Amino acid sequence: MNYVILDVDTGIDDALAISYAVHSPELKILGITTCFGNATVEETTRNTLQVLDILGTDDIPVIAGAAQTFLRRESYEKPTWIHGEDGLGNTHLPAPKREVLQMKAHDFIISKVREYPHQVTVITVGCQTNLALAIEHDPEVARLVRQVVIMGGAVTVAGNITPHAEANIYTDPGAADFVFRSGIPITLVGLDVTLKTLLRRQHLNEWREKNTHVSHFLADICDFYMDAHQKNYPTLGGCSLHDPLAVGSVIDPSFVKAVPMHVEVVTAGEKRGQTVGCESQQPSNIHVCLEVDSDRFVSHFLQRIV
Ligand code: BDR
Ligand code: CA
Repeated sequence: MNYVILDVDTGIDDALAISYAVHSPELKILGITTCFGNATVEETTRNTLQVLDILGTDDIPVIAGAAQTFLRRESYEKPTWIHGEDGLGNTHLPAPKREVLQMKAHDFIISKVREYPHQVTVITVGCQTNLALAIEHDPEVARLVRQVVIMGGAVTVAGNITPHAEANIYTDPGAADFVFRSGIPITLVGLDVTLKTLLRRQHLNEWREKNTHVSHFLADICDFYMDAHQKNYPTLGGCSLHDPLAVGSVIDPSFVKAVPMHVEVVTAGEKRGQTVGCESQQPSNIHVCLEVDSDRFVSHFLQRIV
């Protein structure tokens, strides 16, 4: 069984990733931990509970996590232009039906990694703060986890939040730097591949034609995301399936091809959040995904999602 913890900052594409994961029998989701990022942690936690309500899933624990950066130094600005004021495309959903599990996200990660040694995959699709805190509190986590899959970084392409940085790394570069140096086995699913996986307007129309509660919800949140992409990345031709690809690469690792690299994070200054990778420098600390079978992944995602 593929035990996973999803670490999210829900977020529109996070909501897609959650739906994809929940609909994938290959994964046993132990819990969903939340972090600040696309919105405040209170909002991303509420959004996560609301998404699970819409999916009709009440047996996956949700655990709230970090409200600020690992080193408590960097400032944080909510990216309302890409995910809306509420983080879900200004859909302003009804209040969640259930509560979070009363523990800290990093303690949940530690407890599950220890309960299932060498079996848990942590998929982070927000910043790496909760994971960094878990490793800081219990360094054995780096050895006991099965693997970490991070949606983040841009090793061979430009950034999306600044010319140098991808948003999840930029949000908390101190956490990313700590995690990258920890020795934990990491696969980086960054913009190098996620920009090649696109959801298009026609897919939203198809979801509406399916006419289910879930399909309408996903189409509604993606309207905002699609418009934001059209405005800010006009040449892309759709919106990127960043977070779903990280989940997809765990469901079927053959969707992507990764190479071992030595990757460092720029933690401050003009290039804050940049992920600088080198194939020849040893030792490698990360497997960086550089190729993706986009057609096969996107059609798998579309079949599963609604
Ligand atoms: C990442 O940033 C967030 O806005 C998305 O949810 C995704 O995790 C893409 O750079
Ligand atoms: Ca995200």
